Amino acid sequence: MKRSLFIVGNWKMNTTLQSAKSLAADVVKGLDGKLSGVEVGVCPPAPFLLPVAEALRGSQVVLGAQNASNEKPGAFTGEVAIEMLLDVGCQWVILGHSERRQFFGDTDEIINKKVLAALDRGLKVIFCIGELLDDRQSGRTEAVLEVQLAKGLLNLTAAQMERVVIAYEPVWAIGTGVTASPEQAEETHAYIRKWLTTRFSSSVSDATRIQYGGSVKGDNAKELLAKPNIDGALVGGASLKADQFLAIVRAASEVATIS
Ligand code: PGA
Repeated sequence: MKRSLFIVGNWKMNTTLQSAKSLAADVVKGLDGKLSGVEVGVCPPAPFLLPVAEALRGSQVVLGAQNASNEKPGAFTGEVAIEMLLDVGCQWVILGHSERRQFFGDTDEIINKKVLAALDRGLKVIFCIGELLDDRQSGRTEAVLEVQLAKGLLNLTAAQMERVVIAYEPVWAIGTGVTASPEQAEETHAYIRKWLTTRFSSSVSDATRIQYGGSVKGDNAKELLAKPNIDGALVGGASLKADQFLAIVRAASEVATIS
């Protein structure tokens, strides 16, 4: 029995108020209640969380944020608190995305603080890891992922892992149009699952969903999602067009029905 698939749109720093509302509404309309075995979520930019939450109301589509501060509300100019995200209806937050690691100084230590704070205060976490092209080409993929996993998930309990999804996103595949082959992705997901067994237990490892991210599209999603250790997708570019995102959700529900 495959774990339930989780397809999430990461809109990054895209959309306007109007396009965010209509994209959310089009996703809801396109799903038309057909969601067996598949969970669907969208992560709009912070200023559009509330209007998107309104557009999603009454649907099964869940709302996530793209980042959060680990600090409690207070004097932290420009930051967004976990309590605020909960207040506007977020259930999830993406943490450790490679763009935050690369451009905004989110270290493994900071990400770990954010993960612990989010779980402690009521959000579920999509925890992102992934290697650079150079790491892969020089055979360091597993070593790099091991450090990201060990440091990012430091001090988490098995019970907390029930509210964590891992997103494996090879940095060389993000926004490039180059996807990891289903075999490459499966091999790496199997490594992550083995790591979870060693660090936690086989039951945590069996239950944890591991999404793939990096140039997922309607036409490559099914092959990726059919792999035993790939439990969903974190979708960037293709999540900005409702029809492309819905094609990925459809591929997921086909996989969920046959497995
Ligand atoms: P992409 O982005 O689908 O545009 O490659 C994925 C991600 O960064 O989450």
